[in-house]
Amino acid sequence: MKPLLTAIVTGASEGLGKAFSVELARRGINLLMVSLPGTGLNHLSTYLQKSFDVKADYLELDLTLQESYTGIFDYLKQNNTTAHILINNVGLGNWDWFIDKSTAFYKTQLELNVMTPVMLTRVFLGQVDDSVTSYILNVGSLGGLFVVPKKATYGASKAFIAYFTKCMQLELHGRNVKMSLLSPGGINTKPELLVMNQKLKGIAAATIFEAEDVARIAIDGLFKGKKEIVPGAANKFLVTLNGLLPAFIKNAIVKRKLKDHG
Ligand SMILES: NC(=O)c1ccc[n+]([C@@H]2O[C@H](COP(=O)([O-])OP(=O)(O)OC[C@H]3O[C@@H](n4cnc5c(N)ncnc54)[C@H](OP(=O)(O)O)[C@@H]3O)[C@@H](O)[C@H]2O)c1
Repeated sequence: MKPLLTAIVTGASEGLGKAFSVELARRGINLLMVSLPGTGLNHLSTYLQKSFDVKADYLELDLTLQESYTGIFDYLKQNNTTAHILINNVGLGNWDWFIDKSTAFYKTQLELNVMTPVMLTRVFLGQVDDSVTSYILNVGSLGGLFVVPKKATYGASKAFIAYFTKCMQLELHGRNVKMSLLSPGGINTKPELLVMNQKLKGIAAATIFEAEDVARIAIDGLFKGKKEIVPGAANKFLVTLNGLLPAFIKNAIVKRKLKDHG
């Protein structure tokens, strides 16, 4: 009999995190979903339990707070549950000149994008049992692979996640733990992103995905033990091109785009 798996999903109330929760529940995996208080996790939990006959627990926590990391695993322990899957999804994006955001914004962004996944990975690895395969999915971004102005801290945080994941994949060699890096292009997770993305044309339009499709591709890749998951042919092509083009050409393209779009 296959063991019952439990997945922690951070930032589960909206966007990609919600899509991950639905995708995992659809595959018969129990959930512990985490998001800020009052973001509708109670309704999502009821819907998933009724629709997929899984346990869909949730915790309303602020993941910028240190006590939230241990709070998640204390909760699991109290319920005699071991988590087998960690989806490090929570993250805060932006598209602004560096000077236009406050220090408070950057503190929150770096806590959520960098500290939270690292700390949760550390606590998660402390409780895994190597007799069952465990999985960690770190949500990066194509933004972490390309050098783009107005994405200075976001891109840097995702570059950190890419580096962290690649190092950890080597460290975990020989352990029964699989870790994948997900590097998606744009995802229509919010109405304002949908409006912006609908204006794109050609290859740029082909880089955009729906959250449900990214979640399905990512979970497939995670269970197959893929080291890096880049959804879509256009995004894979851009990653290859990025590796081939010299920096001065890439910088010239970016500067031209900035002139066009401000
Ligand atoms: N959207 C894209 O185009 C795109 C592209 C590449 C990569 N990504 C990455 O994909 C991941 C998900 O992005 P998304 O677009 O789905 O984001 P999103 O729609 O903004 O959702 C973020 C989730 O995190 C929760 N959250 C925010 N602050 C929190 C906090 N302090 N404590 C606990 N939960 C908190 C949000 O809850 P609330 O309901 O309270 O807001 C929400 O559930 C991120 O890591 C992002 O960088 C996104």
